[in-house]
Amino acid sequence: MEKIRYSYDKITQLIKDNAHKIKNYNPDYIIAIGGGGLIPARLLRNFIKKPIYVVSLSLYADDKIKDNVDIVQWIDTDLSDKKIMIIDEVDDTRKTLDFCVKRFKLINNAKDIGVFVLQNKIKEKLGQLDDDVKYISCENVDDNWIVYPWDL
Ligand code: G4P
Ligand code: MG
Repeated sequence: MEKIRYSYDKITQLIKDNAHKIKNYNPDYIIAIGGGGLIPARLLRNFIKKPIYVVSLSLYADDKIKDNVDIVQWIDTDLSDKKIMIIDEVDDTRKTLDFCVKRFKLINNAKDIGVFVLQNKIKEKLGQLDDDVKYISCENVDDNWIVYPWDL
């Protein structure tokens, strides 16, 4: 698989160029999905001054067919009257994002949910986002392996 390397400058520029979309959505909270969403969320705060909450998830393969999402940490904040914008670095299979949206509805009673990613990979998705989710990606990219500046 081809590797596409991104610099911090490029990532910061992408976030800056797309921050107005989040401003228009006007979330009460930014919610970073760790680990990949942590640095994007912090960079976003240079342009949007909203509190950042964090959940941490990890996708693991338990066999060749079925992948599962491992919850490292979640929040118990009631979000029933809050607008949230979930942020992650990449929309790849969409499994993590799908899981996340459903869990914020189930556990936190969230009703007003947006998703913001830096890159959306153009490919067949395994998860899907509900129609009521406001979706923003900074760019659509081919299905290559992205090397982020925080990757080694
Ligand atoms: P999605 O729902 O957002 O599409 O993510 P998916 O579960 O498909 O992603 C599985 C894992 O693979 C995620 O890591 C994601 O960050 C990582 N990943 C997918 N494509 C790329 C890529 O092109 N480059 C890099 N660097 N990572 C990629 P994770 O389990 O969430 O771990 P973490 O790194 O966030 O801690
Ligand atoms: Mg991740």
